[in-house]
Amino acid sequence: MERSEHIYVRSNRLILRQFSQQDVDSFYLYRSSPEVATFQSWENYQYHDAELFVRKQSKCVPDQPGTWFQFAIALVETNQLIGDCALHTLLGEPRIVEIGFTLAEEHQGNGYASEAVRALLSYVFTGLRKHKVIAFADVRNEKSIRLLERVGMRREGQLLENYMSKGQWVDEYQYSLLQSEWEHSVKRGL
Ligand SMILES: CC(C)(COP(=O)(O)OP(=O)(O)OC[C@H]1O[C@@H](n2cnc3c(N)ncnc32)[C@H](O)[C@@H]1OP(=O)(O)O)[C@@H](O)C(=O)NCCC(=O)NCCS
Repeated sequence: MERSEHIYVRSNRLILRQFSQQDVDSFYLYRSSPEVATFQSWENYQYHDAELFVRKQSKCVPDQPGTWFQFAIALVETNQLIGDCALHTLLGEPRIVEIGFTLAEEHQGNGYASEAVRALLSYVFTGLRKHKVIAFADVRNEKSIRLLERVGMRREGQLLENYMSKGQWVDEYQYSLLQSEWEHSVKRGL
């Protein structure tokens, strides 16, 4: 596959790059999967939604206060889209960012999501010089919780009935990582 999109970060097996028009089909396939959507805000995701999403994200730039930027996660070897990770720069305090992530079901269980999130943390702390990264996980989302703890994020608290998920209020854990903690863990080789 041709690679002309802007690449933000590279890791051993992955690149985090700008979304492009050629991603629409792969993106739609995993976004519309009920398994992938279990703990996410969307349901009944349509092809038209995917086209709009990709069109918008292909023109966005990261780190604009009050907005979400989605990085396409692609395999280095083929440039194939396998998932996405998100960066939300808070409007009131842009030195703090929230992250999120999604991986196509057939690519889960290979360590790709952890590798992508570690690459994103490196970009956020080294490139953007952010102070703190936060993430929220539905308390039932075991894979997400395992990933957040694997990359060194620390559970800061449980937020009761913090999120309306498919007609039901659910609890979320908030996870965090300070730049000082990240630097410490990088120096220790974690
Ligand atoms: C959350 C999500 C991204 C996690 O994906 P994942 O593939 O399980 O996460 P990782 O990349 O950390 O992979 C870890 C697994 O790969 C295995 N693995 C295999 N090869 C590996 C390798 N080379 N390196 C590291 N881990 C490897 C690990 O043993 C681990 O398995 P385990 O969880 O059974 O112990 C994925 O489940 C998902 O997209 N869910 C739907 C969307 C969602 O809910 N997002 C979260 C919103 S907050």
